Amino acid sequence: MVVSITKENINNYSDEFINKSFFINELNNNPFAKVLFLFENNSIIGYLYYSDIYDRVEINQIEIKKKYRKQGKGNYLLNKLLKAEKKDVTLEVKETNYPAIKLYEKNGFLKKAIRKNYYGEINGILYEKKYIPQKTSNELGD
Ligand SMILES: CC(C)(COP(=O)(O)OP(=O)(O)OC[C@H]1O[C@@H](n2cnc3c(N)ncnc32)[C@H](O)[C@@H]1OP(=O)(O)O)[C@@H](O)C(=O)NCCC(=O)NCCS
Repeated sequence: MVVSITKENINNYSDEFINKSFFINELNNNPFAKVLFLFENNSIIGYLYYSDIYDRVEINQIEIKKKYRKQGKGNYLLNKLLKAEKKDVTLEVKETNYPAIKLYEKNGFLKKAIRKNYYGEINGILYEKKYIPQKTSNELGD
């Protein structure tokens, strides 16, 4: 189950996996901040923290608890975001973060730029996924 977390409901949730005070601070002080929590058996096993900035979304972090990785959960959570926010999505990832790069490329994110030494000695890759509205079945093309 994925729950959209707000400053009004975050106090209902607690888990040692998340840095709750960080999210409370972001949700209260950053008007663009949004958070999704992924639950399994009443525990938070993943989160996706992003910025909803007018006509686009920037993924700041997606994380799945270690023992739940490589089971499709990151993919599931990312797709919840893509369905919820019908906008272009950008993100920055370390060029050494192979699992994350695979996750993004599998979901149609395209490399837009390499940012040299963005993370100390490690380059950052700027990825983008353009939102393409789906045609409804009775809508005719040109
Ligand atoms: C990146 C992360 C969220 C992926 O979550 P996950 O639940 O393990 O990912 P999924 O199981 O949904 O895998 C989705 C795809 O990513 C790829 N992938 C995920 N982990 C991988 C790994 N260790 N090695 C290679 N590919 C991997 C696969 O292509 C997979 O698709 P497939 O199963 O069809 O081959 C997780 O590794 C994580 O929490 N990493 C630490 C935090 C982090 O680095 N976040 C990204 C910051 S930009």
